[in-house]
Amino acid sequence: MANARHSGPSAATSKIEPATGKLGVMVVGMGAVATTMIAGVEAVRRGLAKPIGSLTQMGTIRLGKRTDNHSPLIKDFVPLADLNDIVFTGWDIFEDNVYEAAAHAAVLDKETLAKLQPYLETVKPMPAVFDQYYVKRLNGTYVKQGRNKRDLADQVIADIRAFKKTVDRVVMIWCGSTEIFMEPSAVHQSLAAFEAGLDNDDIGIAPSQIYAYGALSEGVPFANGAPNLTVDAPALIELSKRNSAPICGKDFKTGQTFMKTVLAPAFKARMIGVSGWFSTNILGNRDGEVLDDPQSFKTKEESKLGSLEYIFQPELYPDLYKDIYHKIRINYYPPRGDEKEAWDNIDIFGWLGYPMQIKVNFLCRDSILAAPIALDLVLFLDLAKRAPELRSIGIQEWLSFYLKSPQTAEGLYPEHDLFIQSMKLKNTLRHIMGAELITHLGLEYYD
Ligand SMILES: NC(=O)c1ccc[n+]([C@@H]2O[C@H](COP(=O)([O-])OP(=O)(O)OC[C@H]3O[C@@H](n4cnc5c(N)ncnc54)[C@H](O)[C@@H]3O)[C@@H](O)[C@H]2O)c1
Repeated sequence: MANARHSGPSAATSKIEPATGKLGVMVVGMGAVATTMIAGVEAVRRGLAKPIGSLTQMGTIRLGKRTDNHSPLIKDFVPLADLNDIVFTGWDIFEDNVYEAAAHAAVLDKETLAKLQPYLETVKPMPAVFDQYYVKRLNGTYVKQGRNKRDLADQVIADIRAFKKTVDRVVMIWCGSTEIFMEPSAVHQSLAAFEAGLDNDDIGIAPSQIYAYGALSEGVPFANGAPNLTVDAPALIELSKRNSAPICGKDFKTGQTFMKTVLAPAFKARMIGVSGWFSTNILGNRDGEVLDDPQSFKTKEESKLGSLEYIFQPELYPDLYKDIYHKIRINYYPPRGDEKEAWDNIDIFGWLGYPMQIKVNFLCRDSILAAPIALDLVLFLDLAKRAPELRSIGIQEWLSFYLKSPQTAEGLYPEHDLFIQSMKLKNTLRHIMGAELITHLGLEYYD
């Protein structure tokens, strides 16, 4: 292992390909999150705003001992694509350009959008792969026609290949709507079964999986901002490894689940018991409308429910967490638009079992929280693709930090605790750069 005190190139770093040239970002679904990310990147490029909320842009990483006082910016430590080198394109079921879509989403104010309008109007979606069976509340008008799912996948691949000619590297991210709840079936068990399913129009293959198949077939990393099954299946994991196209978990961890994965580890660390956790939300954007459909809500609910179960480990702490009543509600309420409000009531108990309550009321802005996460996932997946140690392992567990449903190797429980996830992410960066890992042991200071 290289000396901890430097952040310069080592044997490991020299193998990571540099981030030179243009990074093409293909965004599936150009709605509230996607347009807020794209407009935000342009605002930062033009010096109109700071990239707040983005670890890749604002975060630092400590190297060496605390006494070394050496904490460079992450983007100066690992070779990440520069925001000026990002080129956006994507797909949507509506023909609106990104300016029109952003105006419709109404996340950013008119003044900000007006400054960015000439650029945003140049980013136009391509026709989407869409089937209303998988998103009941939407009716797409700008969609690809194909003989079967194989034909549609070939059309996505043709779009990727055409875009590749204009940039140096490509990453794809799903910022599309939440699809109906689906469990892995026979068609997802192997790549051969999946490819046969494309030919036979298998109902188990959702549009998000057709995009993911297209990306992974082309060696393009794929991130999933929604809770859809998508790449969380053996067939797509196989393709990811085979073509050195990194994947990670799913569903941006932005508001309520973000708070859960901060608070729950604190209770567990102090051995405070929890008997109930009731979470409710009101939101009025298109995402809220889609989630008003019970089948899309079920997909979201499953993704949101998982975190507490894993953090509390009730099998290890039955006296504290065996009987938690965990309930989640999402209510579509148009007046609020993207400005979601979330309430959590947490029933906890302490010494001798005495009960207490905590109330959390988070008045958040969904897409303001999600946009920097989408950007970071894109930049880190591009790094993973250029890092020999990461590119062929398939699932990038170190990116769990950003996701409600982290993906892991088979048989491994996912790590949901935000602070463990943060340490894992930073240690992965240290590791691929040949720097010493930080264990927080610190005994050396007392020698
Ligand atoms: N904003 C957050 O905090 C947050 C957090 C976690 C997850 N998410 C998820 O991110 C996704 C995007 O959220 P949003 O608020 O931008 O929603 P949105 O409804 O504003 O945008 C989704 C876009 O996807 C398009 N779309 C749907 N199906 C498509 C398909 N098959 N191909 C191409 N485009 C398609 C829609 O037309 C729409 O423009 C949702 O699934 C949401 O659940 C958002």
